[in-house]
Amino acid sequence: MQKLDLLYTGKAKKVFKTEDDNLCIFEYKDDATAFNGEKKGSFDGKGIINNQTANLIFKILEKQGIKTHFVKEISPRETLVKKVDIIPLEVIVRNVAAGSFCKRYGTAEGTVFSSPTLEFSYKNDSLGDPLINDYHVIALNIATREQIEEISNLAFSVNKALIEIFKNIDIKLVDFKIEIGFDSEKNIILSDEISPDTCRLWDIHTNKKLDKDQFRLDLGEFADVYHEVYKRLVEKYPSV
Ligand code: TMP
Ligand code: ASP
Repeated sequence: MQKLDLLYTGKAKKVFKTEDDNLCIFEYKDDATAFNGEKKGSFDGKGIINNQTANLIFKILEKQGIKTHFVKEISPRETLVKKVDIIPLEVIVRNVAAGSFCKRYGTAEGTVFSSPTLEFSYKNDSLGDPLINDYHVIALNIATREQIEEISNLAFSVNKALIEIFKNIDIKLVDFKIEIGFDSEKNIILSDEISPDTCRLWDIHTNKKLDKDQFRLDLGEFADVYHEVYKRLVEKYPSV
């Protein structure tokens, strides 16, 4: 499958049309941004490691019955995916307090929740991706009440699966962000990516941050932790 017109350039990847209207190609870039693009960085091969990490995770999730956009990895940094009509929400699940949750509520980082939390941000860079509640989602015609229910159920199913996947490689899943879209048959499916860019991952034994917080907070060489997460995943799931 060939890349045709560039459809969209995001902060970490480009999306191309293909000759099949129902399929797109993702090309992962080496760029990293934080704080709504204000902080910029990169490392050589980041696009490759994120492409491969996301694909491995999506393949494991598919095996567990979660519908994703993943079709086929076509090169180290390119993947064929189902074209989706993306729902403009960042769907965030948290198991442990960190990041903006701590800032917003004054909670100590590392506080373990008795049950996972769910929140939505309105995906709009010029507004700074503000938090949005269910009523606002409905009022803005982003999704119906029933679709919000389906999106929420999908997010919690992904959380349950990811907790186990990461526990198997000695990593605590603190929180993550997913994006969800409608495929050509109007099914709600998991899209975008799941990688250390979109999750908070702490080593079970040391609580070392194995994710983009290394870059956001200038904690060290963030390439190393991205490689570490991928290495642990492929060692545990070599033949997915
Ligand atoms: P937050 O604590 O900054 O709200 O982030 C919650 C989770 O969402 C964390 O795992 C990082 C991820 N995230 C993204 O993937 N993209 C974003 O733009 C933001 C703000 C967070
Ligand atoms: N991805 C977001 C941005 O650039 C923020 C983040 O992940 O912290 O800007």
